[in-house]
Amino acid sequence: MNIAQLKQQAAEYAAQFVTSGMVVGLGHGSTAIFAIRAIAARLAAGELKDIVGIPCSRQVEADARALGIPLSTLDETPVIDVTIDGADEVDPALNLIKGGGGAILREKIVAQATRREIIAVDESKLVPALGTHWAVPVEVIPFGWRLQAEYLKGLGAEVTPRRLDNGELFYTDQGNLILDCRFAPIARPEELAAQIRARAGIVEHGLCLGIADDVIVAGATGIRHLRRQSQESH
Ligand code: A5P
Repeated sequence: MNIAQLKQQAAEYAAQFVTSGMVVGLGHGSTAIFAIRAIAARLAAGELKDIVGIPCSRQVEADARALGIPLSTLDETPVIDVTIDGADEVDPALNLIKGGGGAILREKIVAQATRREIIAVDESKLVPALGTHWAVPVEVIPFGWRLQAEYLKGLGAEVTPRRLDNGELFYTDQGNLILDCRFAPIARPEELAAQIRARAGIVEHGLCLGIADDVIVAGATGIRHLRRQSQESH
């Protein structure tokens, strides 16, 4: 099975935790879209009713609308029952790096309004320590962004401003920039998170610590359901 098929398996498994009447956070990325499609299919089949979705990005809003999922906003619907999203890395404590898709700020806002955050990944995302393969995305306001890049270098990162394929800077849904910060495997993520946040102009970062309640992992040997506090079942 290829990576896309594993992402689909994990996302469809996660989508089964959505039940009628729920407010559902709709994550951003190539894994989360499979969950959104599964939810839409269950709605269309009449298997689910009275769902309202809170999208994590403009892209997701457009996709969910096109698939016929009723949507709301956090202002109207501030408590979310369950959110299904992806991640770039997952460590053994179920801490995450997120934001590869550029939507980290909204993803975190949605996650913090969520009772149960379910992360769906293929097994290549499991790492012994955050930062093993992925850079930590850091969202900065455009004003003075080069100063933030220097600050992040001072914390030990190799910093790359995110760009589109045509070489232009990538802007988030909020009109901010993303600095992809490659650290060596991160020994103390809480400490690093606090250091990153200590700087004016830095809006958010992709270290998601203590946010995931469940992680659904699809791999060569099947699906694993990891729960925070290190309980595991199949
Ligand atoms: C989006 O900003 C991200 O947080 C994604 O959830 C993460 O990058 C995983 O992406 P894929 O599901 O596309 O691998």
